[in-house]
Amino acid sequence: MSDSVDQVQKKLTQLISQSTSPREALRSSELKSLYAELPKLPVNERSAYGQKINNLKQKLETAVNEREESLAQSDREPIDVTAPFDINAPSPDLLPTGQGTTHPLNTELANVIDIFTRMGFAAVESRQIDDDYHMFTSLNFPENHPARDGYDTFRTSEGLVPPAHTSTMQNRILKAGKKDLENGGQIAAISYGRVFRNEDLDATHEHTFYQVEGIFVSSDANLAQMMGTLRSFFEVYYGQKLKTKTQPAYFPFVEPGLEFAIEKPAALGGKPGEWLEMLGCGMIHPNVLREAGIDSAKYRGFAWGGGVERLVMLKYGIEDLRHFESGKLAFLRKFA
Ligand code: DAH
Repeated sequence: MSDSVDQVQKKLTQLISQSTSPREALRSSELKSLYAELPKLPVNERSAYGQKINNLKQKLETAVNEREESLAQSDREPIDVTAPFDINAPSPDLLPTGQGTTHPLNTELANVIDIFTRMGFAAVESRQIDDDYHMFTSLNFPENHPARDGYDTFRTSEGLVPPAHTSTMQNRILKAGKKDLENGGQIAAISYGRVFRNEDLDATHEHTFYQVEGIFVSSDANLAQMMGTLRSFFEVYYGQKLKTKTQPAYFPFVEPGLEFAIEKPAALGGKPGEWLEMLGCGMIHPNVLREAGIDSAKYRGFAWGGGVERLVMLKYGIEDLRHFESGKLAFLRKFA
């Protein structure tokens, strides 16, 4: 009696996975001898047996195709990722002449972080993958609340999210700072990084952008301190005195919630009375403090968050947000 179907399957599958000419397995004597058994069997067993070896043949064919595909892959010319410039660039004057440069968003983000750290804020990078709890629930967004719609982002098949705002770090920052607070200190931190939204793209909307979030908690934090902090930041960033104002806005994680605006400076092409909303802010909602284990009767805080691109666009008169992620050298060179 020749090898059983199972034994042949095992043997040939292994052969295929190692061979550089896997197709030979389909013509092997082992397979042929299985077919040769067929006429020797009693008539009532032939159909089941025939089906079994046909199944086996199909499985082996699939394995052969996969093996051939992977052999072809490994034969391909490797790509040299160290090439010092884009060899496919359409025109020679787009080729770089010297070293690479820092992306304007990185330069400006470093500026922003520098200003806040000099004001006493710790800086932590925001996560690029997070969960529903941190992005919504811990921030006082009830399940199915319509406010969630404003933060439509992508989802992995495991249900994780690339966060739509840097507020996703608030609960962690608050928890980490709780001890300091109870020892008579304060929580003062910013979190910065990439955020992601499911957006129709245009000159002011991108699926990927940067935000900076700030949090301050103490026994007597108040809105006047917040206004002072934000105004100082903007005045240092733009290098001039600015007029600022707030107007009411709704965010579930602050109460009251506000939008912070600056008057567009004349030096940057603004007219008097031309206000630009720069970020969202407010007093941290007691539910958000409580969710992080902080006693909301003893401590209060303010928070803010806004986009980095918007800051930079105003500073340099950039009219289209999409330039930042475009990889266009002509744009990037202006900041070299
Ligand atoms: N996370 C909000 C957004 O992306 C911005 C924001 C508003 C952040 C108010 C805050 C805040 O910390 O207090 O639209």
